[in-house]
Amino acid sequence: MAIVIAPRPAGTQSQGVEPGYDVTRLRWPGQALQRRPATRSELTGPPPGAVLRRLPQVRGDLAGHGARRALGQLIHIRARVVDEDGAPVRGAAVEIWHCNAAGKYIHPSDSHDAPADPNFYGAARMVADDRGVIELRTIKPGAYPVPDTERWWRPPHVHFSVWGRVWLSRLVTQMFFPGEPLNELDPILNAVREPQARGRCIARLAPDGPENALVYDYQLVVRGREGTPALP
Ligand SMILES: [Fe+2]
Repeated sequence: MAIVIAPRPAGTQSQGVEPGYDVTRLRWPGQALQRRPATRSELTGPPPGAVLRRLPQVRGDLAGHGARRALGQLIHIRARVVDEDGAPVRGAAVEIWHCNAAGKYIHPSDSHDAPADPNFYGAARMVADDRGVIELRTIKPGAYPVPDTERWWRPPHVHFSVWGRVWLSRLVTQMFFPGEPLNELDPILNAVREPQARGRCIARLAPDGPENALVYDYQLVVRGREGTPALP
């Protein structure tokens, strides 16, 4: 079996290595990509549920309640995982992580002097339902400065890692918030040259939802021409 998968159109994906942000150099191939046909290795994946047997689900609520409520603006993220035909990817394993409202990650490499929030851990792992949807209750992440750069502040964003049905549908990306002035200045978001593709990285403020939270809709297209750009 030899099926050739069309390459992602140029401009719809990050160029991969950002000058001044050295970590991106370590995350992307250092040599030109070689084209080769996709085989069973790419067109198959773990059987349904297998990923989550090894990596169990972790709550869909990062905000907490009452005295253990995390500081910040309460939000709900409704993310829908679809394939290139718009069909829901039921059973996709979706991992999410983001910093707290002050812009601090719980990670030993985070040297930002913003305070940690004892009620906020910042990571979840969920499985998409029959509509391909995962829903996360959390707080809006803050902006943070990138170390060793000249006043580069990351806009508020949420990291996503998606395991679809086959290995080719693996997607690691970032979700941004609409109307943030830092979006236009962010080298990672703007490394996606095509405006429409860049727009697919930005969530949409929904008109509905609970009274005490803002709801953001976001679509993750795991592959294809309208695919969500992969962002390190
Ligand atoms: Fe980040």
